[in-house]
Amino acid sequence: MSLKVTFPKTDTKLAGALIALTFEDAGLSPQAEKLDKTLDGSITGALKRNQSFKGKVGETLELYPAGKNEIDRIIVLGLGKYDELDALKTETAGGTLAAKFSKADIDTLDILTTHSKKLKSEDLAAHLANGFVLRHYNFDRYKSKKKTEDAPKDISALRTVDAHPAKAKSAYEALSHVTQGAFLARDLVNTAPNELYPDSYAKIIEKELKPLGVEIEIFDDKKLLKLGMGGISAVGQGSSRKPRMVIMRYNGAPSSSKSKAKNAPRLGFVGKGVTFDTGGISLKPGPNMDEMKMDMGGSAAVVGLIKTLALRGAKCNAVGIVGLAENMPSSIAYRPGDVITTYAGKTIEVLNTDAEGRLVLADCLSYMQETYSPEFVIDLATLTGAILVALGHEYCGTFVNDDTLWKQMEKASAASGEKLWRMPLDEVWTKEVESEVADLQNTGKSRNAGSCTAAAFLGHFINEGTRWAHMDIAGTAWRKSDQPTVPKFGSGFGVRVLNDLVAKYYEG
Ligand code: BES
Ligand code: MN
Ligand code: ZN
Repeated sequence: MSLKVTFPKTDTKLAGALIALTFEDAGLSPQAEKLDKTLDGSITGALKRNQSFKGKVGETLELYPAGKNEIDRIIVLGLGKYDELDALKTETAGGTLAAKFSKADIDTLDILTTHSKKLKSEDLAAHLANGFVLRHYNFDRYKSKKKTEDAPKDISALRTVDAHPAKAKSAYEALSHVTQGAFLARDLVNTAPNELYPDSYAKIIEKELKPLGVEIEIFDDKKLLKLGMGGISAVGQGSSRKPRMVIMRYNGAPSSSKSKAKNAPRLGFVGKGVTFDTGGISLKPGPNMDEMKMDMGGSAAVVGLIKTLALRGAKCNAVGIVGLAENMPSSIAYRPGDVITTYAGKTIEVLNTDAEGRLVLADCLSYMQETYSPEFVIDLATLTGAILVALGHEYCGTFVNDDTLWKQMEKASAASGEKLWRMPLDEVWTKEVESEVADLQNTGKSRNAGSCTAAAFLGHFINEGTRWAHMDIAGTAWRKSDQPTVPKFGSGFGVRVLNDLVAKYYEG
């Protein structure tokens, strides 16, 4: 699993399998052409013999040049059209390369870089390596057996040979901070729910972030009750693993004096951290219930994002708040019919204990606004199955009460490749979640527009004037098939797009 990524100088002696880059329309890169000459046209010869190889993004052709030279294995990697190759397409190419050659008895891959119309060679090198690493991610903590002798060996090093190695290295390191945050989020989602529960999760957050200078505050179940956080407390009460709320403060805004930094605007991120969602007394059906270990994906994205901001020393102040609870059925579990009182004082009639995420979020959102008056608050939650019905695994349903914030998120989405789709907030749904018995009820009056009524419910906990976005990541946090830069299962969705949002619009 451990992969060394280095950026040696162009005149370094190469010993691994060589990656020669080629464009669909512009042909072999200059570096690859030079190599081809030293190999008496082996590469161009192979390309001629393999007419089906077009050089599309991520397409590969393997060849074994014969003769006296020391290079015995070459992989031609397609980059698509010269004018069109951008950062995301380059990462796709890198990810596809990893999928094919991470476990192919190759110890070292040497990439000969090039540039495209849109990318300088050092940036192309960095994105290619980053795409490779994103796909190379492998969560094998629970495998007890070591690999057998005859199993294909894992790759151990990736070397990117560029004319500007120092620039390539620093470009890669910047990307790597985001990747490290996304990997933390993936790890958290992939961790089994008997290992990751509110108390253990809170400790992991502290262990991960405190050394990076992030201030951590943990509220235990008693403190939550004392504060009057009836939402998160109710959801967690049926489990012997008691709920927690974790607050992460990252202070990176530049200022001449410390006290000034404290007053600098803060960015607020809230995450749903239901470490396992059985549905509670409104029990979910058995098939695939194991996947409900991913119901803390929103919180994982917040933790990963804060890690990224800290690693790269982002010039902003950010607060992350995650509500951690396990939703279990038991003799002391909350039930349909219960009326609970939230931190904001609003009462909620519980109609379905499986609509638990919004109860957890309600307390987190109120506490965030009251305590930190953030510049905006963005929550991430695996909130509804209905968002999967609407948008599948491809798009994250995003509800935003501010057009400027949405435009910024849309730009960040395009840059990061994490796809957002704006969904509607409407007064009709705001009314629909009002209860005859209490202030609110935790489900809509029908099953229709389930993601929208859930968002409208959260809207009841957003104060007048707070800019707010709700990201329903139930479809995007977890996948059962591979994507070019995201292997199946926990995806880490949210870290990249929100990091881009912060980097583009909220630092300075
Ligand atoms: N955690 C689920 C939503 C979910 C479903 C996440 C599928 C990932 C994949 C959430 O707590 C839930 O159970 N929502 C209910 C709400 C309903 C009872 C109003 C749902 O979507 O069915
Ligand atoms: Mn649920
Ligand atoms: Zn849930």
